Amino acid sequence: MSLEIVILAAGQGTRMRSALPKVLHPVAGKPMLAHVIDTARTLAPQRIHVVIGHGAEKVREQLQADDLNFVVQEQQLGTGHAVAQAAPFLSADRVLILYGDVPLIEHPTLARLLEQASAEQLALLTVTLDDPTGYGRIIRGADGEVAAIVEQKDASPEQRAIREGNTGILCVPRARLEGWLGRLSNSNAQGEYYLTDVIAMAVGDGLRVATAQPAAAMEVQGANDRIQLAELERFYQQRIARRLMAQGVTLLDPARFDVRGEVNVGRDVLIDVNVILEGRVDIEDNVQIGPNCVIKNSTLRRGAIIKANSHLEGADVGAGSDVGPFARLRPGSVLRDQVHVGNFVELKNALLHDGVKVGHLTYLGDSDVGARTNIGAGTITCNYDGANKWRTVIGEDVFIGSNNSLVAPVDIRAGATTGAGSTITAEVPEKALAVGRAKQRVIEGWKRPEKIKKS
Ligand code: UD1
Ligand code: CA
Repeated sequence: MSLEIVILAAGQGTRMRSALPKVLHPVAGKPMLAHVIDTARTLAPQRIHVVIGHGAEKVREQLQADDLNFVVQEQQLGTGHAVAQAAPFLSADRVLILYGDVPLIEHPTLARLLEQASAEQLALLTVTLDDPTGYGRIIRGADGEVAAIVEQKDASPEQRAIREGNTGILCVPRARLEGWLGRLSNSNAQGEYYLTDVIAMAVGDGLRVATAQPAAAMEVQGANDRIQLAELERFYQQRIARRLMAQGVTLLDPARFDVRGEVNVGRDVLIDVNVILEGRVDIEDNVQIGPNCVIKNSTLRRGAIIKANSHLEGADVGAGSDVGPFARLRPGSVLRDQVHVGNFVELKNALLHDGVKVGHLTYLGDSDVGARTNIGAGTITCNYDGANKWRTVIGEDVFIGSNNSLVAPVDIRAGATTGAGSTITAEVPEKALAVGRAKQRVIEGWKRPEKIKKS
């Protein structure tokens, strides 16, 4: 049976107190609405319709994609009115309604819900809560079947005592939906067209409303303010931490670990506290990450060690290599195997072949460094002339003395040596020594200045 999904995302989110549309507020670095869209995609619907209103242009701009149909709801007249805006575009057998500000809903819960939905049966996701304040209440008949949903503001005291609440998520037969939406009225406590009124109409038409519950209540929790947003963030982070631990990662403290993106891990990976992984991060077996590291869009190969306080972005760290503490690897940093990058080293667009050592206080930009080459402390590639960037190419088994300035474009051939303190501006041939510094002068009997006595 075919499926289409409608995501409601037109609401203002006043309580966020923000210029950013509510559904663009991020959980784990990704807009809430993007989480919902990604989960919707896992159900392989025919199409996804997103009803937008407040900040419509910003939302569309950020999330535009071929499989999305954005529908603008000019005025937010209620959830029923919102779905009605998408109705003319619908053609599948079943329509699943999701919410842009309920980001943690998961595939298995929705799959269980959809199992119950057919052309003759609605499927409603409900949640039983100790305190269901604010939620629509599920009204069941004597037979235990769902008869209606009553909104909190329209409910009698007896109805308010019901603890089974409406999550808002439901799946309805498309062929009936448009008729029901057309019959909605806004004569209720909020003067809104309630989608929830569709339930009683369906029951009146002789259809059954089946129910399912989420695996965890947080899956159906919306974010109306930044406090709820923070709660969702913590829950989500805990969920990822557990998944990674189940896959063979040791997290020294799962409560002090954040993922803002997609992480793939091998086995026996060890991650110390306060590590943030962003974007796409691939971590192979036996990698160790020290405390306070930020690692974004990077690959850490087998047995690599990232020491405390290192910042990596767009880096590829080879097997058995070690980085840090206090290293900064910027985009295009490629370390092959057994490379050593020590403290206060910055790399950008730099390819370091097997066994290269860059131990201390160095900047290598737009560079290619041959295998086993040693870069002395305090070496700087002068890769930028104020207008263009140039490459520094260093061969295998080179020894760069300490405190060198390598003025690009420049080639330093295999086996060459440069003296400490050199400014290298021209090619250094194979196995040669280049010394580019002022010759030392010695002045015998040098008199130091003396302190002038004050009278
Ligand atoms: C709704 C349900 C309630 C349920 C609760 C769960 C209705 C009438 N009530 O109430 O039974 O327990 O969700 O959180 O459906 N939206 C639009 N356009 C509109 C109105 C709303 O896009 O015109 C979107 C909002 O952006 C939001 C969602 O629909 O994402 C829910 O709207 P909201 O006003 O928060 O509904 P509730 O009053 O919470
Ligand atoms: Ca709500």
